[in-house]
Amino acid sequence: MRPRVIVNAAMSVDGKIALRGGKRIKISNEEDFERVHRLRNEVDAILVGINTVLMDNPKLTVKEKYVKNPRNPVRVVLDSKLKIPANARVLNNMARTIIITTDNAPQRNLPAEIIRCGQEKVDLKCALEELWKRGIKSVLVEGGGTIIHAFLKERLVDELWVFIGPLIIGGGAPTLAEGEGAADERDVIRLKLLEHRPLGDGLLLKYGVLND
Ligand SMILES: NC(=O)c1ccc[n+]([C@@H]2O[C@H](COP(=O)([O-])OP(=O)(O)OC[C@H]3O[C@@H](n4cnc5c(N)ncnc54)[C@H](OP(=O)(O)O)[C@@H]3O)[C@@H](O)[C@H]2O)c1
Repeated sequence: MRPRVIVNAAMSVDGKIALRGGKRIKISNEEDFERVHRLRNEVDAILVGINTVLMDNPKLTVKEKYVKNPRNPVRVVLDSKLKIPANARVLNNMARTIIITTDNAPQRNLPAEIIRCGQEKVDLKCALEELWKRGIKSVLVEGGGTIIHAFLKERLVDELWVFIGPLIIGGGAPTLAEGEGAADERDVIRLKLLEHRPLGDGLLLKYGVLND
């Protein structure tokens, strides 16, 4: 058994989720921030890859501005080499944090529960099973592109929400789905459009993922 996996990201019209070099840029508008914080408040866990922690240093909590009396879900970081800085904001005491790493990673004392899954990279199926064992029934994957692609490639995504903001970033900036990329038509990940609606000055899309 595994939790329900919802992916959420904000991208530019050209599919970029950050500036070239990975620096954060605000893509969501106020309406989208409110939607995301409500969604965070409804799930049992919010999950990101280690690069998002290193680049953006997010708190991954629910802002009172958007949700009254928020119940902060568990924060989960996938960090194969356990290189998370001890002062990362995701390790603050505002919510519980779980770091999922590998058997090869060093031992470290951090203010978080550490789970080991896999050898080189975090084994995603094992990670989801471990979260399920801890009572986590839904996970919101918030990025970045490498982690989103990894979940999509393994067909572990139930819903994909994409907010498209009215901007173009261009060039080789990080995209919604990184990874190796499909060189053969058989390797593309096919989606089914489930919902579409304008949201302020942007557009919100909801997809399901089709199996092979
Ligand atoms: N616009 C948005 O909605 C949004 C949201 C979040 C982030 N971002 C942007 O996304 C960028 C970061 O994205 P990113 O693609 O560089 O990194 P990422 O997806 O945040 O993290 C990727 C890292 O996760 C680790 N990892 C652990 N297990 C893995 C597995 N099974 N498969 C793949 N990776 C695994 C790997 O590092 P190790 O091998 O060291 O573990 C990998 O390099 C930043 O620029 C940030 O601003 C945008």
